[in-house]
Amino acid sequence: MARIYIEDLSHQVGEVINIHGWLYHKRSGGKIRFLVVRDGTGILQCVMAKGATPDEAFNSFDSLTQESSLIVTGKIRKDDRAPGGYEMELTNLQIIQIAKDYPITPKEHGVDFLMDHRHLWLRSLRQHAILRIRHQIIKSIREFFDDRSFVLLDAPIFTPAACEGTSTLFETDYFDLGKAYLTQSGQLYGEAGALALGKVYVFGPTFRAEKSKTRRHLTEFWMVEPEVAFNDLNDNMELAEEFLEYIVSSVLKQRAEELKALERNTKFLESVKKPLPRVSYDEAVEILRKKGVNFEYGTDFGGTDETIISEQFDRPVIVHRYPAKIKAFYMKRDPQNPDLALAMDVIAPEGYGEIIGGSQREDDLDTLLQRIREHNLPQSAFEWYLDLRRYGTVPHAGFGLGVERTVSWICGLDHVRETIPFPRMIYRLTP
Ligand code: 4AD
Ligand code: MG
Repeated sequence: MARIYIEDLSHQVGEVINIHGWLYHKRSGGKIRFLVVRDGTGILQCVMAKGATPDEAFNSFDSLTQESSLIVTGKIRKDDRAPGGYEMELTNLQIIQIAKDYPITPKEHGVDFLMDHRHLWLRSLRQHAILRIRHQIIKSIREFFDDRSFVLLDAPIFTPAACEGTSTLFETDYFDLGKAYLTQSGQLYGEAGALALGKVYVFGPTFRAEKSKTRRHLTEFWMVEPEVAFNDLNDNMELAEEFLEYIVSSVLKQRAEELKALERNTKFLESVKKPLPRVSYDEAVEILRKKGVNFEYGTDFGGTDETIISEQFDRPVIVHRYPAKIKAFYMKRDPQNPDLALAMDVIAPEGYGEIIGGSQREDDLDTLLQRIREHNLPQSAFEWYLDLRRYGTVPHAGFGLGVERTVSWICGLDHVRETIPFPRMIYRLTP
């Protein structure tokens, strides 16, 4: 008998089939016993009735515990009251293992306990919904760039120098070559790729030794970074808004059930359509001051500032032209005002904070050399990067989208720790 998955049951009505899975929970009422089985693709209620179900199967009900592995056999019928819309009249039950004392019970557990048991917590329906939405987001990211002829460029994880400032580097010994650092961003390699292939995207894990214990920070997170030769800041903003619209509409279309399981209010997601509102850093500061925030011009926005700015709009907002002082060395200055960088951040609605950071890049050799000196970076480590300005330099731009913050926002979660199977934070390295 072919193995069937619960998500495919609509084609199996009236058929006798097998489902391979685990016991999610069970209950009994009168002469009827219910087993709710999960197989990773959904849950199925299996019904046993005294007299109708073979005795052996019926009698094993008492020995079955949560997360015991089993194979259930029976006829499928449609039942709108059942979770998932189908039910099985169980005729055979094969127990693979009785799970003894599964630690995560239906009662409430604290977050630390659940995080310590993350390897098991992934079996809950809530985690299934989040991980499937994460999967959909990653799929739509790849589709978006692949459909537009971007080439995937895999950047290295071990790097010889910092890209996003030296304060958040993880370092390790690297044979006879001294120190290596875990990458903070694949961008510099993406730039080499863009000048070779026109338009590329880097997609992989990135690392920041951030001391921040906020609901938005991980030490290991996934970032997708498109980079396009001949794009300026304006092109970059247009790419970002088209990209966000694509991702959100793909999740709304393909993962409606999971959003419902998470009780996500999709009102703010449905309005994610281009064009996105754009405000300059100066205008954003004005917004904060009008709201009574005592904000010091020239500093970066904190989490609360971002929330206040985003509350003025019904969709993500693009903030552009930040003070160059608070931005990375590689950003091009605004020709209209050299104190400003041609930078852009996209801030998500509902207090989810910055999900995209990007810029037009400095493409002039002498200016870039000067920036490297100003930032006290070792020029020797950047010679290859400077070559990109020596040999056929062109304007170019790109950005990075953090996958976990995007998942957190789209799912409506209150912390990024649930957006990735095994989160890494300053105070957590296990499981
Ligand atoms: O703004 P960031 O630092 O930009 C860069 O790394 C650029 N090199 C990207 C580029 O232009 N190619 O990071 C980009 C995004 C942020 O907007 C945020 O979504 C995410 O990465 N991010 C984090 N996500 C989780 N935990 C952290 N500690 C993060 N730091 C950044
Ligand atoms: Mg940033």
